[in-house]
Amino acid sequence: MDMLVTILDLLFPPFTIIFLVLFYPFYLLLKLIIYISKHLRFENVAGKVVLITGASSGIGEHIAYEYAKKGAHLVLVARRKDRLEVVAEQSRQLGSGDVIVIPGDVANVEDCKKFIDETIQHFGKLDHLVNNAGITQTLLFENYTQIQEANPIMASKAALLRFFETLRVELNPDIKITIIFPGVIATDMSSPRFIEQYGSDFILSQSVSKCAKGIFRGIGRGETYIYEPSREKWVLLLKNLCPEIVDYLTNCLFVRYGKPYFKRE
Ligand SMILES: NC(=O)c1ccc[n+]([C@@H]2O[C@H](COP(=O)([O-])OP(=O)(O)OC[C@H]3O[C@@H](n4cnc5c(N)ncnc54)[C@H](OP(=O)(O)O)[C@@H]3O)[C@@H](O)[C@H]2O)c1
Repeated sequence: MDMLVTILDLLFPPFTIIFLVLFYPFYLLLKLIIYISKHLRFENVAGKVVLITGASSGIGEHIAYEYAKKGAHLVLVARRKDRLEVVAEQSRQLGSGDVIVIPGDVANVEDCKKFIDETIQHFGKLDHLVNNAGITQTLLFENYTQIQEANPIMASKAALLRFFETLRVELNPDIKITIIFPGVIATDMSSPRFIEQYGSDFILSQSVSKCAKGIFRGIGRGETYIYEPSREKWVLLLKNLCPEIVDYLTNCLFVRYGKPYFKRE
């Protein structure tokens, strides 16, 4: 058995390189054709029912505006009802024919059932679900004082990726799933801290409206993955091709900017 494993380990690298040299150009050509055809078949969302969680601010709020401009009906979900009402009014002015607000907590299963039930009661259907609500955690390992502080928020985000990739296989072709990778986006989650620390939120962050436009376009094209800003995709590619170099650069950036920033928390 060990012999077979050793032979496979020896054969896989040359076969992979030969495969890439011979077939990768065709694969890229196929991707280009699919890319062009997706641009030509942009989904018309007018009259479609779209439920957005975390719609009271930031990325969720601006995704709501993009759907509203194209005439979609909206269901806005978050905990702050007053903020949702403001977003709902703005969405109506931008062109959404029907907007309802459902305050609640996505961490509560009963609330999640309520979001869907009330949507179906009101509209009779649900076309798009934008699972955007979330929080972030910026605590250094050295600053943990007890194990409970090893809050699994960031780990759960990584786990969500695999969860939705598996769910995509299970639900295909009835329900399509688009997974979004945001970079640093200037929202309530990031901007106040950047401004306090550096006097500006300019630091490589992308504007939230540009991010929402990119996400909306990607969803309309039926993309499986969306990277906003798009350079995130290239960082991931580099990470796979030459992980040591990306690790080295990440370490340099972290020591210079990240560590002093997180230490203030
Ligand atoms: N900004 C970035 O750089 C960045 C980068 C990577 C990923 N993301 C992710 O993008 C998503 C949107 O973040 P954002 O930047 O737009 O931040 P944000 O402006 O703080 O928005 C977060 C939204 O989530 C809602 N929310 C939080 N916890 C909730 C809960 N338990 N139940 C219901 N709603 C909840 C908030 O509304 P209420 O407080 O009213 O409930 C708010 O509308 C998050 O999942 C975040 O992790 C952001």
